[in-house]
Amino acid sequence: MRDMYTITLIAQKGGTGKTTLAINLSVAAELAGWRTAILDLDPQASATGWSDHREPDHPAVAAVPAARLGDALEAACSHGADLAVIDTAPHSQASALAAVRAADLALVPLRPGVLDLRALGTTADICALAKARTAVALNATPARGPLADQAAEAIEEAGLAVAPCRIGARVAFQHSITRGLGVLEHEPDGKAAAEVRALWGWARARLES
Ligand SMILES: Nc1ncnc2c1ncn2[C@@H]1O[C@H](COP(=O)(O)OP(=O)(O)OP(=O)(O)O)[C@@H](O)[C@H]1O
Ligand SMILES: [Mg+2]
Repeated sequence: MRDMYTITLIAQKGGTGKTTLAINLSVAAELAGWRTAILDLDPQASATGWSDHREPDHPAVAAVPAARLGDALEAACSHGADLAVIDTAPHSQASALAAVRAADLALVPLRPGVLDLRALGTTADICALAKARTAVALNATPARGPLADQAAEAIEEAGLAVAPCRIGARVAFQHSITRGLGVLEHEPDGKAAAEVRALWGWARARLES
């Protein structure tokens, strides 16, 4: 069997951008020639819903009950996937722990702001328990103001790594999802696409190092 890398998007808080980043990183990986499978562990099935609106049949998306995660990862690998991206549900400690245990890289999307910072503790504990390589990805950062820098500082002070590339608050992320696309397909020359390319490049380097 070939090697397959796994990235897990995790945040115990809802609405931080897990699904948005899972989808966009997967599209970026596909465009870079990595066969990619999204394993949708969230009973809300948002990533699976996105794929219903999508014409290209890659990345493959499968709704997976948490208890079947191991089998789904094996199936993806034996079907030749280079990358599995696991999208998890908020408030789901047990299944999130399994998903992070399976990960080569756990990415924690976080919107700069005090509430998200408070909710970060539980997520950080899960990643530590799983001994996963973990980084926070600042998402939906405002175009101006000190909020994102302040958040990055607070996270690093709490002992967590922060990915060096931030994802701004951009409507392209919302518009592309309703079209069943990633921002790289929706608006390849836009700012959102450039940010996703940077995040994918950084994640890829972490996986391969
Ligand atoms: N960078 C961004 N810019 C603008 N809107 C964004 C951005 N990231 C996410 N959103 C929007 O925020 C909402 C929540 O994002 P998303 O569904 O990805 O979060 P989630 O963490 O998967 O949520 P849940 O915990 O419910 O699964 C969506 O409407 C999405 O379009
Ligand atoms: Mg989601």
